[in-house]
Amino acid sequence: MQIRGLKNVDVRGKYVLLRDDFNVQIVDGVIQDTFRIDSSMPTIKHLTSNGARVVICSHLGRPKGKVVPEMSLRVVAEYMNIPFVEDCLAKEFLLDMHNGDVVLMENLRFHIGEEENDIEFAKKLASGFDLYVNDAFAVSHRAAASVVGVTEFLPSFAGDLLIKEIENLSHIMENPKHPLVLFLGGSKVSTKIGVLKKFVQIADKIVIGGALGTTFNFADGLPVGNSLYEESMADFATEIMRTADENGCEIYLPLDKGVGKEFAKNAVRENRDVTQIKDDDVIIDDGEKTAKRNVELLQNVKTVVWNGTFGMAEWGDVWGYSSFKLARALGELTKRGKIETFVGGGDTVAALDACGVHDDMTYVSTGGGAFLEFIEGKEMPGIKALIK
Ligand code: 3PG
Repeated sequence: MQIRGLKNVDVRGKYVLLRDDFNVQIVDGVIQDTFRIDSSMPTIKHLTSNGARVVICSHLGRPKGKVVPEMSLRVVAEYMNIPFVEDCLAKEFLLDMHNGDVVLMENLRFHIGEEENDIEFAKKLASGFDLYVNDAFAVSHRAAASVVGVTEFLPSFAGDLLIKEIENLSHIMENPKHPLVLFLGGSKVSTKIGVLKKFVQIADKIVIGGALGTTFNFADGLPVGNSLYEESMADFATEIMRTADENGCEIYLPLDKGVGKEFAKNAVRENRDVTQIKDDDVIIDDGEKTAKRNVELLQNVKTVVWNGTFGMAEWGDVWGYSSFKLARALGELTKRGKIETFVGGGDTVAALDACGVHDDMTYVSTGGGAFLEFIEGKEMPGIKALIK
């Protein structure tokens, strides 16, 4: 895939509209995880140090065309210590910018035209700029005005982060070292259909855990108690297990589960074999045997792709048990050069952070939905718009 990067582009004195993805979780005015923002810095630095006048735009949350104060990007501008512009269609401030300056504009999704990829909105957004740079891999699966529409009006390029994401994730798809194993957790099978369909073709093993695993266990006729699962996806689960079998891809389901009597952080944890789940059990994590089996599996693989935690890892050690076991083992083996590990998805990245192993991975993607769409081989509109 050949994509237009910024190398050899003269940006000095140019007004650059830079699309970043600063869709970060903010609780009580505090940014919970700055990974996406920090990952955007190399492109910002490249542009400013080469004399560009950089105006960053991003979305935050899903305000659906309304101004929602809790979804303001002001707190991100404060974190970055850069000026903030109240409206993404404002232009007057451009006159006051100098070479090397950088500002952040307010949430694009306060305008309905953004998500609708409205061409008039895209034109207004682009006006006053000389160049457009997309460095927002995490939203490049959305055909939004700031991702696709603006490329109709401005010479358009990919930023360093977008290129890095494409290169690393393409490596999994095109040239992985085998055996390749996919660890797939999270809550909904319905959001992972494409990835499962793709990986039964390319992976040697797929380990399914979390609530996703509960749906697969249910499809296998096992009891699931009072737990989260998707009854409507049982047929798909059966179908995937059959296709995997035909393709020689081994599927590993949970052997046991960590259960409580209520879905609560302070619920008392018991470990239960998947055949012994009681009617009033609530499954909140994969069990100890499963976690041990997953770590043992790693001894015989070369490439790991991980998306989705296996339990409520955000609740800490008790319910993050199985996710943290995997995260630590991946950190250790990747650091020792035994495996290559590629991780994507907000909760999964948070589990790496909780274990202090984020930097040990081969590559950690800033994408959630975009990561999944990329590895399932879907064409992403934001990337397509930049291809030579
Ligand atoms: C994400 O967090 O996955 C991206 O920022 C896209 O957000 P969206 O799912 O609200 O379009």
